[in-house]
Amino acid sequence: MCGIVAYVGHREACPIIIKGLKRLEYRGYDSAGIALMNGDLNVYKKKGKVADLEAFISDKDVHGNIGMGHTRWATHGEPNDVNAHPHYSSSRNIAIIHNGIIENYAALKTLLISKGHTFQSETDSEVFINLIEDIRINNNCTLVEAVRLALHEVVGAYAIVVLSKDDPNQLVAARKGSPLVLGIGKGEYFLASDATPIIEYTNEVVYLKDYELAVIKDGELDIRSKEDIKQTPYIQHLELTLDSIEKGGYEHFMLKEIFEQPRSIMDSMRGRMIVESNHLMMGGIREFENKFANAERILIVACGTSWHAGLVAEYLIEDFARIPVEVEYASEFRYRNPIVRERDIVIAISQSGETADTLAAIELAKSKGATIFGICNVVGSSIARATDAGAYTHAGPEIGVASTKAFTAQVTVLTLISMIIGSKRGTLETSKLHQLMAELENIPAKVEQALALDEQIKRIAAQYQDATNFIYLGRGYNYPVALEGALKLKEISYIHAEGYPAAEMKHGPIALIDEQMPVVVIATKDSSYEKIVSNIQEVRARKGKVIAVVTEGDTTIPTMADHVIEVPETSEHLAPLLSVIPLQLLSYHIAVMRGCNVDQPRNLAKSVTVE
Ligand code: AGP
Ligand code: GLU
Repeated sequence: MCGIVAYVGHREACPIIIKGLKRLEYRGYDSAGIALMNGDLNVYKKKGKVADLEAFISDKDVHGNIGMGHTRWATHGEPNDVNAHPHYSSSRNIAIIHNGIIENYAALKTLLISKGHTFQSETDSEVFINLIEDIRINNNCTLVEAVRLALHEVVGAYAIVVLSKDDPNQLVAARKGSPLVLGIGKGEYFLASDATPIIEYTNEVVYLKDYELAVIKDGELDIRSKEDIKQTPYIQHLELTLDSIEKGGYEHFMLKEIFEQPRSIMDSMRGRMIVESNHLMMGGIREFENKFANAERILIVACGTSWHAGLVAEYLIEDFARIPVEVEYASEFRYRNPIVRERDIVIAISQSGETADTLAAIELAKSKGATIFGICNVVGSSIARATDAGAYTHAGPEIGVASTKAFTAQVTVLTLISMIIGSKRGTLETSKLHQLMAELENIPAKVEQALALDEQIKRIAAQYQDATNFIYLGRGYNYPVALEGALKLKEISYIHAEGYPAAEMKHGPIALIDEQMPVVVIATKDSSYEKIVSNIQEVRARKGKVIAVVTEGDTTIPTMADHVIEVPETSEHLAPLLSVIPLQLLSYHIAVMRGCNVDQPRNLAKSVTVE
């Protein structure tokens, strides 16, 4: 995890780096640090947020036109000042910022200690910089050559930037497994973990490829392969706007992103569905339509919220396209010996497109000959580039660590895909397809209606803000929503929450229910409505507090629930797009009332780039 930024050009580097780190803080916020070249190679670093670093350097000389910064999500060594990046080499002549994990760091460290190198921190990153120094001294070579040779020695994932006292006008960067974007301005260059720190200055970018080494020296850019072969950079023009990554008047990014959902769902459908002409198309899937239609099985790999979207897709695809679907945690898939066949299609779902477990699952499935289809939000991300084909979700940048608009955008895209495959296979009747399309088109307006429940949900949140446990129940299409509601609550409010299929409650969790237990039941009108009404009665019989999400106009559940939240009526296949909205708002308000840092919850990071 972690965010890295570097700058070289005609401006002061420090303010650009600090601002960039703030934009990348969603990636990690255990500590922050900066290295600047101004006569000497100076490093300043501090435990805590970028704001703490900013306060710390306020009385320091931070002038200079070249520098680099880091915001950390600790993997090796606790979050403290010493383990913060940048790290000097033993001689303090060179320094590194690093995103990723060096898996063979222990063996390298033992070797380096035996050769006289000393270490201040517990990090794997400090081993990397000493390895570079060691190679440089032993081979009497340039820094660039030493970095290149070091890449052959390290095992694991990295995006690094290295600065050297002896080459004060040079930035050296490399990546493998962790993202690194290079921004090209007029007489200036930027490096960052994603494009958000860069777009304010330029939208010409190069996404570095694995094993590439970029050297910026005296205003010139040179990109080389690990074998030292010169590469021609592929310059992309980014569409990202500054507006889309700022809070726009909302108190938190999460709230802004929740309220953006009518638009992000619409954007995810735009150009892909024209209801008037009954037209359904998706560029990414077109040439794979036959493969999809003939697939023996579809495997979905993802983590966290994206995995929940995958569960919704399982119901949709099996229902519409009658192809067997298995949904796997990418991390489990990766480390067992899964059966993957050539006629299987693997769908990888990821907001960030950088989740290491999902990437590793893709590589494994690829090696077994399956076709890989990616559903990502971040354009140009590693997963988007590692797949055979794919579709973007067009939710726009999601900054809040808790995923909201990415989930509904993923479900939207997956709904379109399942309708396309179903219609291609003839398993989804045309009349039903057209009905679904018309209903899907209405979803953004209905999400808008659901968002209008904000004040009511805030009042409910006030009553339960001190709860220590929550249970979320749902059946059918609303079962993944129950899981998602519970995940949202635990990650931002730190309240323990369990999501369960409502009928499973009686096989265990029912023992937890007493008068203290809030139970959120997602009970919109669908084919299992009567059954979930019985489940509500079971909760009531044990004195649990029922917060029910129901379909507008329901007259049964209000007679038995403590609180009723009404969402607009829709087809049961599309229910998750509406029923998840109140759950996002509920967790948001509870977390704010508990004084939690909603956008940057403890111990988490937005993209989990470690396995
Ligand atoms: C969601 O709120 C979480 N923060 C987390 O579970 C997330 O969904 C997961 O890490 C997967 O991320 P991705 O979609 O970027 O791959
Ligand atoms: N492994 C490094 C550390 O623990 C970098 C972690 C990261 O990428 O956030 O400092």
